[in-house]
Amino acid sequence: MTASFVIALDGPAASGKGTLARLISDHYGFAHLDTGTLYRGVAWVVLDAGGDPADPETAAAAARDYAVDKIAGADIRTKEVGAAASVVAANSAVRAALLDFQRRFAGSPPRSAAGAVLDGRDIGTVVCPDATVKFFVTASPETRAHRRWLELVASRPGLQETEIYQDLLDRDARDAARDDAPMAAAPDAELLDTTHLSIDAAFAAARRVIDGVFRRC
Ligand code: DC
Repeated sequence: MTASFVIALDGPAASGKGTLARLISDHYGFAHLDTGTLYRGVAWVVLDAGGDPADPETAAAAARDYAVDKIAGADIRTKEVGAAASVVAANSAVRAALLDFQRRFAGSPPRSAAGAVLDGRDIGTVVCPDATVKFFVTASPETRAHRRWLELVASRPGLQETEIYQDLLDRDARDAARDDAPMAAAPDAELLDTTHLSIDAAFAAARRVIDGVFRRC
């Protein structure tokens, strides 16, 4: 399926997988796709048009017509868009519409990069089951809520950490319980628990795994 090295990082929100994916792609010169932005983009388009993310036809139509320039300048990082993204992501027609793009990115990364790093929920299980290296990145819900709160509080003074905590638990439950491509660790994924790791330590641990696999290739 894929001609290049593919590194898959899956895991729940604010586990550190996005930061790790960026560091890994910079270090190895690989192209990076944050697949959550696709679901966030679809959710944003639906919300912006005043639609209901839970309406199957509305979300499916937004996913089929999806193009990156539709969300240029949009703030897709809010917790409202995150929650709506998790709702549209449970829709199989939405997932099917976004699958080819992700697989093409992995198989033929932009700028002829030698490899690709994709992060999401189902990369190692569904999008790229043949990925060269797979990680499932986790952290305790308390740690993840604190990290997300630190990211958001500057633009949302008064935002409570408890509110974020509950949102994360709701989103984890929805992402893990859906029928189609639920968030899950692939059986051959390396588990990386970042609860007590600095980002430098997590990155070093990931590099050890990746370099070990590359040496055997
Ligand atoms: O990683 P994120 O918070 O940006 O993702 C937003 C939502 O998108 C997440 O709650 C579930 C969904 N998602 C998914 O279902 N599959 C992916 N590969 C990536 C994200």
